[in-house]
Amino acid sequence: MQRYILSVLFFTISLYSSEIYTKKQLTGKEVFETYCWGCHHQTAMAFGPPFSEIAAKRTYEEIQAYIIDPELMYKSFGYKRSAMSKLKTTQEEREAVAKYILSYKGK
Ligand code: HEC
Repeated sequence: MQRYILSVLFFTISLYSSEIYTKKQLTGKEVFETYCWGCHHQTAMAFGPPFSEIAAKRTYEEIQAYIIDPELMYKSFGYKRSAMSKLKTTQEEREAVAKYILSYKGK
C-alpha cells in the first residue's frame, strides 16, 4: 500500500514538474506581462514610452533590435541616455512582443 501511494505521488510530481519546466512559447501579451509591464504600458506613459507611441514610429525590426541591445540603440533612437535594461529574451519572444506592440498602432 505504501509503495502504491509513493508511486502515485511520484507520478503526480513528475507530471506537475514537467509542465512547469518545459518552456512553452509565450504569446506577445505574456511576454509583455513578464518582461515589460513594469516600465511600459500599452497606451499610457510609464517609465518608458507607451506601445501605441512606439508602434507609430518604429518597425518590427527596430523594436526587436531595441530589446536585444538598448545600450547600442538608444542614440540612434534619439535618447540621451539608456534607462531600459538589457533583457534576456528568446527570438520567439521578441517576435511575439514586437507584433503585440505593433497591434497598438493608431490606438
Ligand atoms: C527597466 C524598465 C524597462 C523595461 C523592463 C523595459 N523597458 Fe523598454 N524602455 C524603457 C525606457 C526608459 C525607454 C526609453 C529609452 C531608454 O531610456 O532606453 C524604453 C524604450 C523602449 C523602446 C524604444 C522606444 C522608441 O522610442 O521607439 C522599445 C521598442 C522598448 N522599450 C521595448 C520594450 C519591450 C518590448 C520590453 C519588454 C520585453 C521593454 N521595453 C522592457 C524602459 C524599460
